[in-house]
Amino acid sequence: MDPIHRKLITLEEFTIMELRQFPKATGELSGLLRDISLAAKRVNAEVNKAGLVDILGDAGWINVQGESVKKLDEYANHQFIGVLREGINCCGIGSEENKEELIFDDPMNNQSKYVMMMDPLDGSGNIDVNVSIGTIFSVYRRTTPTGSAARIEDFLQPGNRQVAAGYIIYGPSTIMVYATRRGVNGFTLDPSIGEFCLSHRQIRCPEQGRILSMNLGNMKEFSPGLKKYIDYTQEQDRETGRPYTQRYIGSMVADIHRNLTKGGIFGYPATHTRPEGKLRLLYECNPMSFIVEVAGGKATNGRERILDLKPNAIHQRSPMFIGSASMMVDLERFMP
Ligand code: AHG
Ligand code: MN
Ligand code: MN
Repeated sequence: MDPIHRKLITLEEFTIMELRQFPKATGELSGLLRDISLAAKRVNAEVNKAGLVDILGDAGWINVQGESVKKLDEYANHQFIGVLREGINCCGIGSEENKEELIFDDPMNNQSKYVMMMDPLDGSGNIDVNVSIGTIFSVYRRTTPTGSAARIEDFLQPGNRQVAAGYIIYGPSTIMVYATRRGVNGFTLDPSIGEFCLSHRQIRCPEQGRILSMNLGNMKEFSPGLKKYIDYTQEQDRETGRPYTQRYIGSMVADIHRNLTKGGIFGYPATHTRPEGKLRLLYECNPMSFIVEVAGGKATNGRERILDLKPNAIHQRSPMFIGSASMMVDLERFMP
C-alpha cells in the first residue's frame, strides 16, 4: 500500500479498539497506558540528548538497592511518578528507586483500581556508553477497595495477578511492548508525529532459538547443574553444527527483547555470593515473565514458575531464567 494511504495505528487507537470489545470496560487501563507512554516520550527525549547536556554520570549517591544512581534514573523515576500522580488512572507506584511504595492517597487517585510497579531505567550501567536502556512496568488490580488509599498488600501480589506489563526500549528506535492476557504487541515511536505506532502485532516467542544471554563472568559462582548446562550449550548442534551463540548486553530489557523476537534464553542465576540473584522480582522478573509467557515462552527461578512466587517485600530479588519454551525445558533437565 502506498505510504499516503497506509493506516498507522497509534497506541491509543489500538487500546481503544481493544476496549470496544468489552462494552463494560471503563477505559482506565487505556488511560494508564497513555500516561505511561507520555512519561516514556519525555524520558526518550532526555535519553536522546543525554550526550548533549550535563545529565550523564553518577548523581553521587547510592539507591535503596545499594547501587549508584545515574542522573537519568532519577529523571525517569520522577517523570513516571509525576505523570501517574497527576493522572487519575493509578492509586500508587512501587519503584526500584524508592525505598517504600508511593501511595498517592488523594480523592481522585483513590478511585483508581490500579497500582503499578516499575524499573524506571533498566540497564543504567549502559547510559554513559550509548547502549540501549529501558523502562519496565507492571500493572495490578488493587485488592483493597477503591475509594480508600492503597495499601502494601496491593503491591505484594504474585505475578500471575498482573493485568498488564510492558517495557520501553530506548534504542536505535524507541519501542514500547506491552502485554495483556490477550497478547503482546509492540509500538515504535514515530518521532515525526510523536506517537507510538503499532509495528509488532501479536509477538510470539520462537519455540526454539540459539541465543544464550548470561553473564558468564560469574560462571565460577554458578551451581554445578548450571555449569553443565552451559557446557551443553557449547556443544555442536546436530542441525546447525554450531554451539549456541552468546549475546549479553547488560540491559536485561534489550537482551530479552532480542530473545523474544529471535528465540533465545536469558538468565540471571543465583551465585554463591548472591543466592537471590540480582534482579528484582516485582520490577524486573514478574513483568518480563508475564510478557514472555503470553508470547508463548517460559520463565522460572530454576525450579518454580516466576509468576507463582509469592512476594513478601517490594524490593525482593529472585534468580531468573526466561525465554523460548523448548530451550527452557532443556535447561530444566540440568537444574536439581
Ligand atoms: P538496573 O540498571 O535497573 O539496576 O538493572 C541492571 C540489571 C539488568 O538490566 C542487567 O541484565 C543486569 O543488571 C546486569 O548485571 P551484571 O552486570 O551483573 O551482569
Ligand atoms: Mn533493572
Ligand atoms: Mn533500574
